[in-house]
Amino acid sequence: MNHDHLIEAAKKVRNRAYAAYSGFFVGAALQDEHGNIFTGCNVENSSFPQGSCAEGNAIGAMIVGGGRKIDTIAVVGGHKQLEDCSPCGGCRQAIREFSDSNTRIIILGESGDFVEYSIDDLLPKSFQLK
Ligand code: THU
Repeated sequence: MNHDHLIEAAKKVRNRAYAAYSGFFVGAALQDEHGNIFTGCNVENSSFPQGSCAEGNAIGAMIVGGGRKIDTIAVVGGHKQLEDCSPCGGCRQAIREFSDSNTRIIILGESGDFVEYSIDDLLPKSFQLK
């Protein structure tokens, strides 16, 4: 399956990132179960713990927009150019909340090409309230 539209949306919103402290700019774009697309970027703060990640902000936008399930999420990040930007542990748990075994997570792989992962690939044996 081609995920170019989500990768492009993630790259585009990455240009809006506010990364005044780390200089690491992240963009995330997801498609929900209705086919709607939502994006988010990281928003840092001089009180460091108040900063937020791109993935969480995209998920927040999805919830506001009425979505409840991530079909596919693409994440891109880097200082100037794109670098390896594998979702952080907290973001994996946030993605887990709104994923199932079919959810695709698209990030740059070791080859330099975009690679598709499942949430179980990235967060095995994850915590879930039943
Ligand atoms: N960041 C994200 O937005 N998502 C991740 O999954 C990893 C890290 C942001 C947080 C911070 O603004 C910057 O990248 C450097 O850690």
